Amino acid sequence: MSDSYQAALARSAAIEKRLEERPSELRMLTGDRPTGALHIGHYFGSIKNRVKLQQRGAEIWQLIADYQVITDREALGDVAGNVRNLVIDNIAAGLDPERATTFTHSAVPALNQLMLPFLSLVSVAELQRNPTVKDEAKTAGITSIGGLLLTYPVHQAADILFCKANVVPVGRDQLPHLEQTRVVARRFNERYGTTFPEPDALLSEATLILGLDGTKMSKSKGNVIELRMSADETAKKLKGAKTDSDRVITYEPETRPEVANLLLLISLCEGTDPEQVAVEIGDGGGGELKKRLIDAINTELAPLRARRSELETDPGYVSEILRRGNERANEVANATLDEVRDRMGMRYV
Ligand code: TRP
Repeated sequence: MSDSYQAALARSAAIEKRLEERPSELRMLTGDRPTGALHIGHYFGSIKNRVKLQQRGAEIWQLIADYQVITDREALGDVAGNVRNLVIDNIAAGLDPERATTFTHSAVPALNQLMLPFLSLVSVAELQRNPTVKDEAKTAGITSIGGLLLTYPVHQAADILFCKANVVPVGRDQLPHLEQTRVVARRFNERYGTTFPEPDALLSEATLILGLDGTKMSKSKGNVIELRMSADETAKKLKGAKTDSDRVITYEPETRPEVANLLLLISLCEGTDPEQVAVEIGDGGGGELKKRLIDAINTELAPLRARRSELETDPGYVSEILRRGNERANEVANATLDEVRDRMGMRYV
């Protein structure tokens, strides 16, 4: 395990503790790209933590990262539909629209403007080293990395710092971006005076869930269970999940990654231990394993899916949530940008 991952884990544990003791000190920001439907990777990797933070009393900022859509693709797809679905998924999962601020990049100019001074604080070499950017380019089949793809971790720093968030619930793949954000905050503070907090990741136990084919989970690979799928669609999809030829089910992430991944998913839904689940299934083979997983996921997601269907019938409500969220995000982004201009001596009138 790398030193920086170890350090991030330690800081994440410290955040957990603060969440118990002094939740009102925490301001959470997280974001999703409106490129498609949210899936169980988002759910276990981040959304459950968002809801937990909210329940404990942290302040919640929820970004729909629409400008990030154009980092690694030319076709925007149904971005408007995806934005609305993200609002619905998050609320259906338990985010309280009265307490959470939900907004989009494109509606908050001052947030985007923060990227300019931030870009001056990073080097091209540093950007080129970011493993998540390289990974995303590879997954998207991009051979020459565009300017926005290269610099979007800095844009993400603006996402997080514009509201001075100090906690970001993310999966492990986002840690390089969080590290970049911390560096930007530190360098800004050193150069212009203390302005920004250095935010910490809140890592979940489920940061390494794989897709149903045993490779990295990705909307574009179709190896995911979407939150909005019906119980039947979920069953069908899970029946096609990859396992192996050994009938006896055991939890061995190193040697049997596909089977281990399905066991992990069951344990996350049921709040049980993956080894124990394996023992219970025993020689029931892949069939039993999948049957139990189908039940577990459909049970876990049933309440969310019910709320989802209700929200889908009320488009005006969804618009209102976004309108109010954008308004609030603009107020805060404008105030931060003014402060940044002050610090930089760029307020002339
Ligand atoms: N990059 C994140 C993803 O691909 C989405 C995101 C955008 C984000 N801005 C953020 C996550 C700020 C956390 C904080 O999933």
